[in-house]
Amino acid sequence: MWRTPLLKTAWFLPILIAAVVLPTYAQSPTYGLGRPASLEEIKAWDDAIHPDGRELPPGSGTAVEGAKVYAAQCAACHGKTGTEGPNDKLVGGQGTLNTKKPMKTVGSFWPYATTVWDYINRSMPFNKPGSMTADEVYAVTAYVLSLNKIIREDEAMNAKTLPQVKMPNRDGFIGDPRPDWESPHSRAPETSKQ
Ligand code: HEC
Repeated sequence: MWRTPLLKTAWFLPILIAAVVLPTYAQSPTYGLGRPASLEEIKAWDDAIHPDGRELPPGSGTAVEGAKVYAAQCAACHGKTGTEGPNDKLVGGQGTLNTKKPMKTVGSFWPYATTVWDYINRSMPFNKPGSMTADEVYAVTAYVLSLNKIIREDEAMNAKTLPQVKMPNRDGFIGDPRPDWESPHSRAPETSKQ
């Protein structure tokens, strides 16, 4: 009598075995390709800047200096004052996306000035990324911030001052609720006390 129920349920055994065994195979390195990256190789790619700016390199620049960099290397794509295009507008949007006609710009969208530095450093000019010196990136970042009226033209941006710049839409973002995830928002000095 006991055999019948067993036979009836036996159909799923192969599926059960497959479900347990296959993932184990999928995880084993069986392709024999590649090798672990060396520390030097990782270092060459590891150029991300945290919101608190801890990795920012030495160097400094003001918007006055950045205006020259901008005119020579950015204006052709972003317009003379950062609003004319043909590519992304960098200026405007009233410091928020919470309007009837939200406009994403550095001034209205980006939560951290350090991230603007990081982005420009690694990806602009679009046609020659990574070609600028740290001083040039500080200067042109300062210029874009001053066009957005976030800093004054004569304020020097460097590893110390840039993280202190409060972007207009900093508080327009919702932090990631996962407690085990080191969110940039949980790290920001003014929210870490909560
Ligand atoms: C050849 C054209 C070109 C040049 C030159 C160029 N950019 Fe860009 N830029 C782009 C394009 C295209 C994007 C959008 C890229 C994307 O969305 O992936 C962009 C995006 C950006 C953004 C992000 C805008 C946003 O909020 O989405 C910033 C900031 C920026 N550029 C700054 C600069 C600065 C500073 C320079 C000069 C050092 C520069 N760009 C030169 C084409 C250019």
